[in-house]
Amino acid sequence: MQIEVPREFERLGAVRIYGLQKVYELDAGPAMTEPGRDDAIVRSLPAEAIYEVQREMAIVVPVRSERLKLIEGVLVGIPNPCLVIVVSNSPREPIDRHFLEQDSIADFCRFSRKQIMVVHQKDPVVAAAFAAGGYGDVLDDLGLVRDGKAEGMMIGTVLAKMLGKRYVGFVDSDNYFPGAVNEYVREYAAGFLLNGGKDTVVRISWHSKPKIVEQSLFFAKWGRSSRRCNRALNQLLSHYTGFETEIVKTGNAGEHAISLDLAMSMRYATGYSVEPYHYIDLLEQYGGVFPTEHGDMRRLVRICQIESRNPHLHADKGDAHVAEMIIGSLATIYHSRLCPASLQKKIDAELRQGGYLKDGETLPPVRIYPSLAGLAMDRFAASAQEIVDRRLGAPPLARPMVS
Ligand code: GDD
Ligand code: MG
Repeated sequence: MQIEVPREFERLGAVRIYGLQKVYELDAGPAMTEPGRDDAIVRSLPAEAIYEVQREMAIVVPVRSERLKLIEGVLVGIPNPCLVIVVSNSPREPIDRHFLEQDSIADFCRFSRKQIMVVHQKDPVVAAAFAAGGYGDVLDDLGLVRDGKAEGMMIGTVLAKMLGKRYVGFVDSDNYFPGAVNEYVREYAAGFLLNGGKDTVVRISWHSKPKIVEQSLFFAKWGRSSRRCNRALNQLLSHYTGFETEIVKTGNAGEHAISLDLAMSMRYATGYSVEPYHYIDLLEQYGGVFPTEHGDMRRLVRICQIESRNPHLHADKGDAHVAEMIIGSLATIYHSRLCPASLQKKIDAELRQGGYLKDGETLPPVRIYPSLAGLAMDRFAASAQEIVDRRLGAPPLARPMVS
C-alpha cells in the first residue's frame, strides 16, 4: 500500500491524534530491493509486510439480523491471513436466524477452505466464561451477555486475546462491497506498520457514502451522526489545547482496529456509543488531565485515521436508528469528566434544536464497562475452549489457525 504520512497531530498528555491520511495505492506490490526513503511523504508498504501484520490480526464481525448474502460478501473481503471471529446476536426464535447464519458460513468455509469462529452473543458458554473470569459486568439479569454491538465486540476481543493475536479489527457485517472490506483490513495493517504496532488505534474515515439524491448518485462525505460527533470531540480537544482544531474525523468510525493489549486495557461503552467513547476513554486515561487516576502514562497512545478509497454502502436502518446513535455518541462526551460546562451547554442546545431531546428531558448517561484488564484470562480461556473447538470449516491446508 502507498500511504501518505500524517501531516499533523494534536497531543493531549500521552495521546496523539494524527490527521487524516490518504491512500495512494491499495497494493504497492512486493518489497523493492532499494530501501524506501524515510523522509518520503508517501510511504510504500510492501504487500508481504501487510500480510505479516494480518497474520497477527483477528477480524471481528458483529452481526444482528443481517442478510446472509451481505455477511458472505463481508467474509469474502477479509484477507486470508486474518483470523475471523463472527459474533452474532441474531434472534433464535421464532425463526432460528443464527442457525441459518451458521449454515451459510459453514458453506463459505467449505468453498474457501477457511476456518471461521462463529459465536452467539447469548450462548451460555460465553456468559459462563465471563463469569468464571470474574467479569460479570457484561451480563444481564438472566446471566447472559447483554445486547449491543459493543458487547459483541468485547466477546470478539477477548477471544482474539485468548488465541494469541496481537491486533483486533472490526468490520460491520452489513457492507455491500467486499472490496471495501478488503481495503479496510489492509489499512488497519498499514496503520500498525506505520506506528510500530504498539498502543495504536487505526480508524477508517469512509471516502464517501453513496446515496440517491434527485434521481442521481450523490457521494456524501459525512453522515448525520458523524458530523455532530466529530465536532463535539474537536471542541473538547480545543478546550484543553487552546487551539481550535478539526483533527478528529472518525468519532463514530465502526471500522477500526486496536493493538490487542491496548484494547484489553480500554473501557467500552454500550451499543453504538462504543466508538466515540474510545476517544473519551483514551483521553481520560492518558490525556494527563486527571493525574491521579490515569493509566500507564509511559504508554504513547497513537490514534491514526486513514481515509479509505472505496465508497461505503451498507444496509439502511432508518431515522430512529440514526437518532439513537446521535444521542448515544453525544452522551459519551457530555457525561465525560473532561467535558466543560460550556460544551455540555452546546451539546444540550444542539440536541434540543434537532428534536432529539424534548422539554423536561435530560441526556441520559450510557452504560460504561470497566476495562477487560480485570478479566482473569486463564479462567475465561478454560471455560471458552469449547467455543474455539466448535469453529467451522476444515483445518487450513498450510497454516495453523490458532497461533
Ligand atoms: N454482535 C452484535 N450484537 N452485533 C450487532 C448488534 C448486537 O447487539 N447490533 C448491531 N450489530 C451489528 C450489525 O449487524 C452490523 O454488522 C454492525 O453491528 C453495525 O450495526 P448497524 O446497525 O449496521 O450500525 P450502523 O451502520 O448504523 O452504524 C455503524 O457505523 C457507525 C459509523 O457511521 C456502526 O458500526 C456504528 O457503531 C458506527 O458508529
Ligand atoms: Mg450499518
